[in-house]
Amino acid sequence: MFKIAVLISGSGTNLEAILNAVEKKEIKSRVVLVVADRECYGIERANKRGIETHILDRKAYRDDLSDKIYEIVKKRADFIVLAGFLSILKGDILKEYKDRIINLHPSLLPKFGGVGMYGDNVHRAVLDNREEITGCTVHFVDEGVDTGRIILQRTVAVDYEDKIEDIKRKVQREEHIAIVEAIKKLEVAYEGVN
Ligand code: GAR
Repeated sequence: MFKIAVLISGSGTNLEAILNAVEKKEIKSRVVLVVADRECYGIERANKRGIETHILDRKAYRDDLSDKIYEIVKKRADFIVLAGFLSILKGDILKEYKDRIINLHPSLLPKFGGVGMYGDNVHRAVLDNREEITGCTVHFVDEGVDTGRIILQRTVAVDYEDKIEDIKRKVQREEHIAIVEAIKKLEVAYEGVN
């Protein structure tokens, strides 16, 4: 069994999807702690399930945020899952968890990734660009922003009358599947290593 730390910044629907998968034994891992870089509803979801939570205010920690997170997760988590986490990680945590940190992104990378591309900004850009297909990506986290090796993607069709909310809803549905599938892949890759 693998131990996962989940990092969040928002409503935590993807965290919830992971927790449901743990509960239904769809994945062998369990979530040992949840870290948020701001007050957010995802923390409430974790608290309701009795999971250890930490809120590290990104504005207070600034450049030390990554090291502070590393301090909390090291030796306790096998994998780190960024499920709607909006700060950029850097430093030792990336080296120590190389190929063991994954991020969920709401577009088909390499399209619509990089600094400032998160949440609704991504879906707005998809609409502005008149994309016919969008989706989500789970990828390894490296020193860049949304540049790590892609683990898997799931696609959705964009209809001409879609608004941001419609795309968001469609992509989110796929994200909840994608994040669980990516964790399964990690489990297979690291089976026997643990
Ligand atoms: C998700 O759509 C995720 O892809 C996105 O934040 C949302 C979090 O939703 N992440 C990014 O934009 C990262 N660049 P949730 O809090 O309901 O899981």
